Amino acid sequence: MTTRFEASLDFARGMDQHDHIHKLRNEFLIPAGETGELIYFCGNSLGLQPRKAREAIDQELRDWENLAIDGFVKAKNPWLNYQYQFCKPFSKIVGCQENEVTVMNTLTVNLHLMLLSFYQPAGQKYKILMESGAFPSDQYAVESQVRFYNFNPDDAIIEIGPREGEKILRNEDLISAIEENRNSLALVILGGINYYTGQILDMKNISETAKKADIAIGFDLAHAAGNILLNLHDWGADFAVWCSYKYLNGGPGSVGGVFIHEKHIKNLKVRRMGGWWGNDEKTRFEMKRGFIPKADASGWNISTAQVFNMAALKASLDIFERTSMPELRSKSIT
Ligand SMILES: Cc1ncc(COP(=O)(O)O)c(C=O)c1O
Repeated sequence: MTTRFEASLDFARGMDQHDHIHKLRNEFLIPAGETGELIYFCGNSLGLQPRKAREAIDQELRDWENLAIDGFVKAKNPWLNYQYQFCKPFSKIVGCQENEVTVMNTLTVNLHLMLLSFYQPAGQKYKILMESGAFPSDQYAVESQVRFYNFNPDDAIIEIGPREGEKILRNEDLISAIEENRNSLALVILGGINYYTGQILDMKNISETAKKADIAIGFDLAHAAGNILLNLHDWGADFAVWCSYKYLNGGPGSVGGVFIHEKHIKNLKVRRMGGWWGNDEKTRFEMKRGFIPKADASGWNISTAQVFNMAALKASLDIFERTSMPELRSKSIT
């Protein structure tokens, strides 16, 4: 049955009754404007505060107060394993296995770390393909990475833009650019949803094309995670990074999410930046040389879990656990 759209408050309220998830609106604190509660359209920039964020942070404050160092093992949510609480909810949000996802740092830092792992220029294959007008942080990251290997960004970065007179990218143009440049490309990095136009790229076909051409592929999902349906594992992308302060409501500067495909997580030949949090717990305190990464995406963790920062995100993901991405997406497009 199709519903005839009407631009009216009654229509919107009526539509809201068609599902159970409208109740989840009450789980968020909506700022009061001068004339009453604001109608908030900026979740694509900073999501609202989950009502339970304060309680979640308070819990960690109390455990710190009462347990101090013992909180790493005895806290209600032991800090030693804090990052693992995010694997299940994030695996559902980005469409992957729980061992393929982790939380650490912030988006641009994670993009750099993923480029250090997956951008492996060799011989003629040293170029990076990205969309023109990508988010500035991605442009700076890619530019500084190619300079790091002493390449000239004007030569080593291929940017693909919309056709003359058009405003959005054509997926077929991206696909043919990857195929045409297959002998010179080492990596493709794209925004899964363009931050400016809102365009959703055909991540499945683009990933498959890149993999067929033996080119590493990653996505910036800042505007996609928690917004649209994603299926990263099946699409075969090598990696993805996202922030969690937009649709995921983790609060300003909240911890970033990272997906690394199963095919890489146990491969010790994939180079990476080591740190104690990514080392196998069994050998972490042997105090000797020999970094042994954990055999899942958390093998890319470097530093201690950012507990206070992660607590607010946990409060938000608990709300996601009461619904599903298909339900949320279906509501957002009807
Ligand atoms: C598409 C996109 N990429 C990257 C970033 C930068 O994220 P961060 O400041 O967490 O590194 C943003 C931030 O808004 C973004 O929208």
